[in-house]
This record gives sequence, C-alpha cells and structure tokens, in this order.
Amino acid sequence: MTFDTRDHNGRMTHFDQHDSFWLFGYGSLIWKADFPFLERKPAWIDHWSRRFWQGSHDHRGIPSAPGRVVTLISERGARCDGMAYRIEPSLLQQLDMREKNGYLRELVPIHFSPTSSVDGLIYLATPDNDAFLGEAPLARMAEQIAQAQGPSGSNRDYLLNLEQALRELGASDHHVSALASLMSDYK
Ligand code: BEZ
Repeated sequence: MTFDTRDHNGRMTHFDQHDSFWLFGYGSLIWKADFPFLERKPAWIDHWSRRFWQGSHDHRGIPSAPGRVVTLISERGARCDGMAYRIEPSLLQQLDMREKNGYLRELVPIHFSPTSSVDGLIYLATPDNDAFLGEAPLARMAEQIAQAQGPSGSNRDYLLNLEQALRELGASDHHVSALASLMSDYK
C-alpha cells in the first residue's frame, strides 16, 4: 500500500447519500476538532485498543525523524473511548487530506450508551501501511515521542493533549497514561 490514502478513501462511498453521519475520534480528533460539526458526544467503540504504533512523517514528525501517533489494534473485549462528531459527508475530503498518511476509513458501531449506538466511521492505520511502526518497548516509544517535532507541533504535546482530553472525558487508557508519565524523564 502506498503512503497516501486519499484515492482509496475517496472510493469509499458509505455515507455519500446521507445528510450527515457519525465520525469517531480516538486521537487528535478528540481535542482538535478544526472542522465544522453538527453535534458531538462522548462515545466508545468495542474490541479496539488505542496504540502509539503509527509513524507520523507529516504532522508530529518529519520523514527522517518520524513521530508516533495513535492507531487502533483489534482486540477482543477491549474498549476505546473517544469523541463522536456528526458531520456532513462533504467534509470527508478535508479529513482524508488531514489523515492521508496511512489512514483508511473503516465502518464501525459507535456506542453512546449501553442502549444507543450507530454505524459510523473511524480512520484506521493498519499494519500493512508504509508508515506503520508497530510495537516497541515503552521507554523507546517515549523517547521517540519526546524528541519528534513536525509541522503540526511536537509529538510530546500530541501525547499530553490526548492524555488530558481522555482524563476530561473520565476515560482511562493505560497505554496513553504510561507513555505520558514517562515524558517527565525528558527535557
Ligand atoms: C482520531 O482522532 O480519531 C484520528 C486522528 C488522526 C488520524 C486517525 C484518527
């Protein structure tokens, strides 16, 4: 698979004929909603775990020194908390551009409560994309995050903003809090 996922995502037409649909954000979309939305609500998706396993060459790093940003790993019984946005389909082109570094649209059930859910989209970076870095020892991932910088800012701020946003949602994510707690080891 090539780096730039815009063509692939543009061929995914699930919600083209809808007035609006739900997009679930589990990373920077939780705190950085720099797009118009009709409504937003805390939500979760089941059987997915958030991991800092995707390389960022265009936002929180550069090609010679990529940062690490989140993607989701399929895991039976897991729960990933985040923020859902009801948006108009015309916005997808802009989001495809923002998430073009390896992220594909994927259809998932999004839960608002134990009795309320809807099918919506996530952006997912799978292990077969060229920017995927995968697992590494926690300390190595923390060091990489502490040092990386890109056009959208420092990788450290990305991690700490995510940790704060999850705390404000009342959500716990052991992987994110473990990495965030290691940031004080780096200046
Ligand atoms: C998210 O917040 O859901 C997200 C942000 C960037 C890429 C993929 C997902």
